[in-house]
Amino acid sequence: LVASLEQVEETYIMVKPDGVQRGLVGEIISRFEKKGFKLTGLKLFQCPRDLAEEHYKDLKAKSFFPKLIEYIVSGPVVCMAWEGVGVVASARKLIGSTDPLQAEPGTIRGDLAVQTGRNVVHGSDSPENGKREIALWFKEGEVCQWTSVQAPWLR
Ligand code: TYD
Repeated sequence: LVASLEQVEETYIMVKPDGVQRGLVGEIISRFEKKGFKLTGLKLFQCPRDLAEEHYKDLKAKSFFPKLIEYIVSGPVVCMAWEGVGVVASARKLIGSTDPLQAEPGTIRGDLAVQTGRNVVHGSDSPENGKREIALWFKEGEVCQWTSVQAPWLR
């Protein structure tokens, strides 16, 4: 039990503007809820350009970077913080490959998307980036720590 407590991680998940426009917010949230992760932060948010650029700063040199930024600021996104044992890698599995045509059926992108440039959801790629991105997208007090009354063992 002590060992598993040490593996509790946090990840930043975001429904991108196409996911909001297409009415997929509830569907996407429910996949992480049903898996058994704990929601600790949630908001609808119109992202300013400088925040989108900071979030994707590692991709600044890529040819698709300008289009990626246009896409992310094109409408509101849903920002989420999720907590759980192994949540970072598990969320990436639930999300599926970057290119939705390569993503396995059963994954969010595999089931709900077609284009890499409209792949409906973001998930942090490491525990370090999980912490970095949650700090970037949420203000102090917007992330809540809580214990499930129904499943107090849920981490
Ligand atoms: P990346 O961090 O490589 O993928 P992921 O979101 O799966 O972690 O890329 C970030 C986003 O950039 C990706 O979700 C969609 C966009 N993107 C493109 O538009 N074209 C591309 O060729 C790639 C690799 C990514």
